[in-house]
Amino acid sequence: MILTEHYQTVALEDVTVWFKAAPVSAFPENGGACIKYKGLQIAVFNFTRRQEWYATQNLCPHKREMVLARGMIGTAGAEPKVACPFHKNTFSLKSGENLNGSQCALATYPVKIEDNYVYVGFRD
Ligand code: FES
Repeated sequence: MILTEHYQTVALEDVTVWFKAAPVSAFPENGGACIKYKGLQIAVFNFTRRQEWYATQNLCPHKREMVLARGMIGTAGAEPKVACPFHKNTFSLKSGENLNGSQCALATYPVKIEDNYVYVGFRD
């Protein structure tokens, strides 16, 4: 079982590996898809409306369900966010912070697009 503790936010300056995840076309517009890196499920979001990409752990810390890639994305003020499809806990896509409750924050990861491919940054 993958625990929340296995996920650790990676800052852009700490990236040591850019993992080539999938072509841009594999990610639905204004939605998410799940990728796997070394046993970790990572939710990658193609936020077309903002022309931004985000990556977070796929594991919702509430009931430890691997569901966040299927969450609805939107904005709260200026903050891009994802709502868990199960019980609607909402998290910032930028910081991972839980925006409406007491659940712990999500780990977040840098994303870059190169030659129509999506790369997610990790620290090995
Ligand atoms: S499992 Fe995500 S809010 Fe409950």
